[in-house]
Amino acid sequence: MTQNFIVIGNPISHSKSPQIHQTFAAQSEIDILYQRQYCPDNEASFIAVVEAFFNGGGGGANVTVPFKQIAFTHCQEQGNLSEHARVAGAVNTLLIRGDAVYGDNTDGQGLVNHIISLGWPLKKARVAIIGAGGAARGVVLPLIQAGIASLTIANRTLSKAQTLVTELSAASQTIEKQAIETCTTAELTGEFDLIINATSIGLTEHTLPIADSLNTHYAYDMMYGRALPFLAHFAQRGAQVSDGYGMLINQAALSFECWTGKAVDIAAATKDLPSL
Ligand code: ATR
Repeated sequence: MTQNFIVIGNPISHSKSPQIHQTFAAQSEIDILYQRQYCPDNEASFIAVVEAFFNGGGGGANVTVPFKQIAFTHCQEQGNLSEHARVAGAVNTLLIRGDAVYGDNTDGQGLVNHIISLGWPLKKARVAIIGAGGAARGVVLPLIQAGIASLTIANRTLSKAQTLVTELSAASQTIEKQAIETCTTAELTGEFDLIINATSIGLTEHTLPIADSLNTHYAYDMMYGRALPFLAHFAQRGAQVSDGYGMLINQAALSFECWTGKAVDIAAATKDLPSL
């Protein structure tokens, strides 16, 4: 029997999720229909879409911009959140657990899984994240769980980085135990093993102020599908670099596995997705 899945967003026509999930399904030889679901940008409409979908027998939903926080609040009210979603304050994956809609967040673990698949060491790594918005918030717990040695969060607006650390430490004992430094982006200097760009600057014409004394072995930009000056800068200085396309595939694989119980061969699936 065909299992139904959707990705809910606004806008949604650009979403690559249907193609990615159909590729996973073909690999697992299961029959799924994965569709884009447009939703008006308000909470009542989002909840109506989710309820109609699951009441109609839907198997699972992804949630994208601008609904990740609304999905979080909806699941939180029912006490039905994974730890990663609770700490991230955002939900990208919905399913039915018990009698209620359950929210998970696979974005941060997707990033960690991609970095591991690149062969980049995370255990004992000195890591810096640039950015203090939703994207940064979602990756802190999975990175700490992966065994990093130290974490610095740098942001254009220092107070936002400080507030983020305070909130994350209050939300998770694992994070509270990790000393996290903060600074402005321009002040970020020294030697790191991994620097992650979690800002949305790649969507603009601006470039980050990167100190000349800032060095890293590995640089990762969570954006993809466009020229990324952040990566070009560190590639020129001899670092290994990656954009966030693999994070997209890995977060999707985690959602797919949680819905279907089928393991995804990500390397094989990525080869089958040449046009993305
Ligand atoms: P997201 O959910 O994608 O993380 P967000 O919550 O709006 O989006 O956060 C955007 C992040 O990108 C913030 O860290 C923001 O820095 P500020 O907190 O100082 O606003 C960062 N950002 C966006 N545009 C930037 C720019 N031109 N220069 C530096 N940082 C920028």
